[in-house]
Amino acid sequence: MPQWSCRHAEYRLCPNYLAWVQCSVSIGAAGILRNPLPQLLRPFSDNGENHTMLPPGPKGSLFPTLKFIRSPRKMLEQWRADFGDPFLLHALNGPIVLTGREDLIREIFGSDPDLFDQFAIQTILPVMGSGSLFAMVGGQHRRERKLLMPMFHGDRMRSYGKNMCELAVQLAEAKLSAGRVETLPLMTDISFGVIVQNIIGGAEPRELDGLVQASRKVIEAIRPILLFTRRSHISFLGLTPWDRFVRAKEELFQKIDNIIDRRQAGTGIHDDILSLLCQATYEDGQPMTREHIRDELLTFLFAGHETTALSMTWAMYHLHRHPVALSRLLMELDQCGDDPAQLASAEYLKACVQETLRIHPIVTEVVRKLKQPLQLDKFTIPAGYAVSPVTVLAHYNSEVYVEPEAFKPERFLEKSYSPFCYMPFGGGHRRCVGAAFATYEMAMILGTLLKRFSFQLLETTEVVPVRKNVTMAPSSSVPLTIKRR
Ligand code: HEM
Repeated sequence: MPQWSCRHAEYRLCPNYLAWVQCSVSIGAAGILRNPLPQLLRPFSDNGENHTMLPPGPKGSLFPTLKFIRSPRKMLEQWRADFGDPFLLHALNGPIVLTGREDLIREIFGSDPDLFDQFAIQTILPVMGSGSLFAMVGGQHRRERKLLMPMFHGDRMRSYGKNMCELAVQLAEAKLSAGRVETLPLMTDISFGVIVQNIIGGAEPRELDGLVQASRKVIEAIRPILLFTRRSHISFLGLTPWDRFVRAKEELFQKIDNIIDRRQAGTGIHDDILSLLCQATYEDGQPMTREHIRDELLTFLFAGHETTALSMTWAMYHLHRHPVALSRLLMELDQCGDDPAQLASAEYLKACVQETLRIHPIVTEVVRKLKQPLQLDKFTIPAGYAVSPVTVLAHYNSEVYVEPEAFKPERFLEKSYSPFCYMPFGGGHRRCVGAAFATYEMAMILGTLLKRFSFQLLETTEVVPVRKNVTMAPSSSVPLTIKRR
């Protein structure tokens, strides 16, 4: 077959279409820009297989990727209207076939986990480390989930309830004298406190302060760009975002190492996740290495606090724009005592949490890279491509949700939704390990704050989702008045 290649891409003459086709799928922005990419050119997979049966999608790579990063929902809806569902995006990290259809999402989440690799692993690995659940696939991923899941479920999770409520009251009370609170920073402080307490709360008081500061520095140093392209992992005189991240991570790891050594030696054992990790063994009796424990701690810190803080901020925003929903919730809360178990079983509170996560999914889509071809509708998606169930399309499907743009918690009391059209925590073999913990935490904190304090929105302008990291955040910090109820 006639071939031609340049530094960034390789082309072959397509036997069926008698046209030059682009073969390499791992080209970056520079490659795309130099590339004429005429419409006739169609991609080949890594193994040279012809996949003319790919869905259509926007042309080029750099500009669609940038538009997608900036306004994911708008672009995803526009591409679906232009090209149908599923559609293909040549993202900078690799080609992705996206869908918001329930039947196709079911297909993807229901497929054999061994069909998938982690997407953009070269970008994730240097940030989170090879011992992070985010970086694992196959048997290693299954084994790790089995070990970690119990730490965020059942009695263990419920044992954190009282601390969560106390911390929320303590931090909100500190705002009373000002009579005003910025919701996002308050929720970030609460959820950061919750996750730190649960992970390393058993540390000596003199160590804890240093650990909290060091953890905060790492979280602040994870800039969005570091998670979107490996090309941002560059070092220059200690001044780049990558340099700052590496420095902060090393500082945290140094502080954690002493504690790990003590706890692995069986001294200074406490009731926190760090101790559980230090004592944990896999089915074959092997303990976790120190490097591995550090990577998982970083994963929990990163995955477990911003997501919850953003969701709680959205909940406060919507509840204070919808007086009917708020007064129904307050009536329910007034009948609950202070016991976390009662908050956990409050039905309308639960529905408010569910509706918040529907209307503002913090992660707009999840992505899986294919190791083998996958049949999706009439298309054969080749190995090397990724497939993506799009949460934000599924959650706004008007065939499933009546008035999808409206905040209506009662919809979750009237009907239950399948995990293929309601998926704020992703799905299948990679579904969020902290999902139960996060919804429990949201109920504890929102319930406690609304029971004890009364709030009013200080701004009337509409708050919209904007890109923060891999997550979507409210465009304002949602300032509220605060007083005792
Ligand atoms: C409202 C809060 C949260 C939201 C919206 C959220 C959302 C998500 C989503 C969408 C995924 C990807 C799932 C997929 O690929 O199918 C994920 C994965 C993950 N989340 Fe969460 N999350 C939240 C809270 C938490 C908490 C509290 C923790 C734990 C401390 C956590 C730990 C993780 C981990 C470790 C993964 C990787 C799972 C894997 O790859 O197997 N998350 N989360």
